Amino acid sequence: MNIRLLTANDLPRLRKFWRENWSDEFVVAHGVIYHPDTLDGFVAFDGDEWVGEVTYTFSDVECEIVSLDSLREGQGIGTKLINAVVDESKKRNCKRVFLITTNDNLHALGFYQKRGFELVAVHRGAVNESRKIKPGIPLIGMNNIPLRDEIELEMNL
Ligand SMILES: CC(C)(COP(=O)(O)OP(=O)(O)OC[C@H]1O[C@@H](n2cnc3c(N)ncnc32)[C@H](O)[C@@H]1OP(=O)(O)O)[C@@H](O)C(=O)NCCC(=O)NCCS
Repeated sequence: MNIRLLTANDLPRLRKFWRENWSDEFVVAHGVIYHPDTLDGFVAFDGDEWVGEVTYTFSDVECEIVSLDSLREGQGIGTKLINAVVDESKKRNCKRVFLITTNDNLHALGFYQKRGFELVAVHRGAVNESRKIKPGIPLIGMNNIPLRDEIELEMNL
């Protein structure tokens, strides 16, 4: 498995990847709609197969991670993708990397905290608002937990 930067040529495949893994070609977080063509990212690949992706966006001195997926869990893919974004953020002199995950995603909450991210905010009911824009967001999320809130995590650089 290796990783490389996403390019414009990857957009159709990234859209398909999001459709298959996040139910649509866009992601909604804190009221903002993110489309793949406005984001930077890395893809993890094994031969012709995509086994993971991360997308992110820079604004001023911050980097926001918009999506992170690993299709082969427990093999270091997620860690490698996160490290690549953190390295890129340092190169651009960012002061922090942050992301939104959801209240049901207990695995992601553990994963990020073990890698140096800290919980900074709970945005109560924010997913209920996102669902108005993206009705495909389920009412019941991972671990059979009602999917309601956004949780913000950050790493200060
Ligand atoms: C969260 C997610 C990205 C993690 O990806 P991943 O590829 O499984 O991550 P890693 O393999 O790097 O790490 C997972 C575990 O495997 C272990 N691991 C890593 N490499 C390993 C290896 N070579 N052999 C054995 N175990 C290994 C790690 O120690 C880690 O355990 P820890 O978190 O207790 O330290 C993945 O679970 C995922 O795609 N989830 C669904 C989408 C999602 O929730 N995305 C985030 C929402 S914002």
